[in-house]
Amino acid sequence: MEQKVIFVTSYKGGVGKTTVSVNLALALSMLGKRVLIVDANLATPHVAIHYGFDEFSNALQDVLNNMIKIEDAIYKNERYGLDLIPSRVFKRIGDSNAEYKILNLPYHISKLIRNYDFVIVDTRPSQDLDFTKLIPYAKVVVVTTPDIVSIIEAKKLREDLRKLGINDIYLAVNIYDRKSKDNMNLQEIKQKSGFKRVIEIPESKKMQEALKTGIPIVAGNSRDAASSAFINFAKELMK
Ligand SMILES: Nc1ncnc2c1ncn2[C@@H]1O[C@H](COP(=O)(O)OP(=O)(O)OP(=O)(O)O)[C@@H](O)[C@H]1O
Ligand SMILES: [Mg+2]
Repeated sequence: MEQKVIFVTSYKGGVGKTTVSVNLALALSMLGKRVLIVDANLATPHVAIHYGFDEFSNALQDVLNNMIKIEDAIYKNERYGLDLIPSRVFKRIGDSNAEYKILNLPYHISKLIRNYDFVIVDTRPSQDLDFTKLIPYAKVVVVTTPDIVSIIEAKKLREDLRKLGINDIYLAVNIYDRKSKDNMNLQEIKQKSGFKRVIEIPESKKMQEALKTGIPIVAGNSRDAASSAFINFAKELMK
């Protein structure tokens, strides 16, 4: 399999990038794939929290600052059978410098890519897209909510990705409620955003509980509609 690095990103904040990243990584792992998830949102890094994991001293900031090797920032999550490179929420001295070195991330990732089937990279909103073009085999999942503002930002991001020559892209429409009259339907969303591959992820009432317990819904709620959507999305990415 060639295209195994998946950037999960959006221009708009709070649309569900981290939720999508952690559940997708877990779904791929549950389907038997070797998965690494990297928390590249250095501003508000929450991947570890989603997995209920808070005891780590090494972080991506240290890798970017060339203080440790990337291998030393990998935490093996025994419970879920996936590997995680976390970022620190509460910054140490020097961590701010790491933000300027985020463009080096593809270089660090390339050193261990052969150990994995998939590397999922959670990003911050408006992440400098330059780093995606440094990984020629990357796929990009743009996350949006089903409102016009978020969809317009997704369209803008799609156009910017295309300028970089990145065409292997998906739009994940998150917190989607089919029954709500306020939501646009998927056809409308496709038209407005310009994306051809659109994945629907329903709103889940279990999401806050999942965050509180540190058990992502894919692991804890097999009958949840969002959980099934993540599994189906993972299967689609494996094709
Ligand atoms: N499908 C869903 N159903 C219900 N709630 C959801 C769903 N997806 C995300 N949420 C909730 O929406 C909020 C924002 O999600 P999340 O933190 O994943 O967004 P983000 O895009 O990563 O934010 P940021 O831009 O700050 O990194 C969280 O409270 C999360 O639990
Ligand atoms: Mg996030």
